[in-house]
Amino acid sequence: MSKIKKLKIGSIELDNNLLLAPMAGISDLPMRLLSKEGGAGLVYTEMVSAKALTYGDAKTKKLCKIHNDERPVSVQIFGGDAHSMGEAAKIVRDGGADIIDINLGCPVRKIAKAGAGAKLLADEKLTAGILSSVVKNANIPVTIKIRTGLIPGQNVAVEILKIAYESGISMAAIHARPASQGHSGEPDIEAFTQACAQSKIPIIANGGIIDEQSAEKFMNIPNCSGLMIGRGAIGNYSIFKRLENYFNNGMILPKPSADEKILWFKKHAALSADYYGQSRGYILLRKVSHYYLKDLPNAAKIRDMFNKVTKTSEFEEVLTLAGERLRL
Ligand SMILES: Cc1cc2nc3c(=O)[nH]c(=O)nc-3n(C[C@H](O)[C@H](O)[C@H](O)COP(=O)(O)O)c2cc1C
Repeated sequence: MSKIKKLKIGSIELDNNLLLAPMAGISDLPMRLLSKEGGAGLVYTEMVSAKALTYGDAKTKKLCKIHNDERPVSVQIFGGDAHSMGEAAKIVRDGGADIIDINLGCPVRKIAKAGAGAKLLADEKLTAGILSSVVKNANIPVTIKIRTGLIPGQNVAVEILKIAYESGISMAAIHARPASQGHSGEPDIEAFTQACAQSKIPIIANGGIIDEQSAEKFMNIPNCSGLMIGRGAIGNYSIFKRLENYFNNGMILPKPSADEKILWFKKHAALSADYYGQSRGYILLRKVSHYYLKDLPNAAKIRDMFNKVTKTSEFEEVLTLAGERLRL
């Protein structure tokens, strides 16, 4: 039987169990729409600060603005106290989120200083209070995204998953790397397997999934209910459809050609310029342009050129050059 299935997260049924990971500065509305087109069953916003939401911060509100075409969508919130997280849950729900996700995995200093993200993995009592407060106030399904632990060899996931179940959490995504490892290095498959074995809620695997082989490693683990893909989806949005095809039919489809990547880049630029305005839209794309351009002959030169683009006519010149390079 195929491992691709319609996953139920509380009252929400996903078309498949292949999810786009939350990524600050990356999984904005344009990228979420592209991932949806590429076959993602659920997309996540960038993490948003619960405190900033309760202050009515306009920039934060824009981060969780939702478009009907991306549904179902999960808005991820972070914070270090139960009250503001509960208040933020109401704001996010009223803003149209289908699901609320709680960030319990971010190791970045700024987030840790706020007592949020992975820091919470070391404080079960506070975590339990935050999870219960969000569930109580949300009235929509609530999920968590965690790490296997804070440092290698430590598996806090099992205990956190127990708290999650008791708090009414509907699903947990586990980034199978300890927080101290950031986003690099091999995932800890053993710690992930242990967490799956003991969990009473569905578990989604995350960390280093970039192709059929890395996906299968996680999918074969008993009780693993699906996959979450982060960097492997950038500029490679059809990875969701390719994985679905692989698990359904056993066929490995070719990776996107350079031409196809340019097409995705064009779509991304159009969405970004439309959403943020041309100048800001192109500037924001600079941090992901290498995902689209890296395989082109003379990629560095084309990227330098793109880094000066602030309007569509200039972007078209870059595309013409990229196309010419491809056909050399
Ligand atoms: C640039 C960047 C931003 C990220 N921002 C978030 C975030 O806002 N919330 C979160 O839970 N994880 C965040 N992550 C972690 C990813 O969701 C994911 O767990 C991590 O990249 C591992 O998955 P991957 O190997 O498929 O990329 C971020 C990762 C990156 C690279």
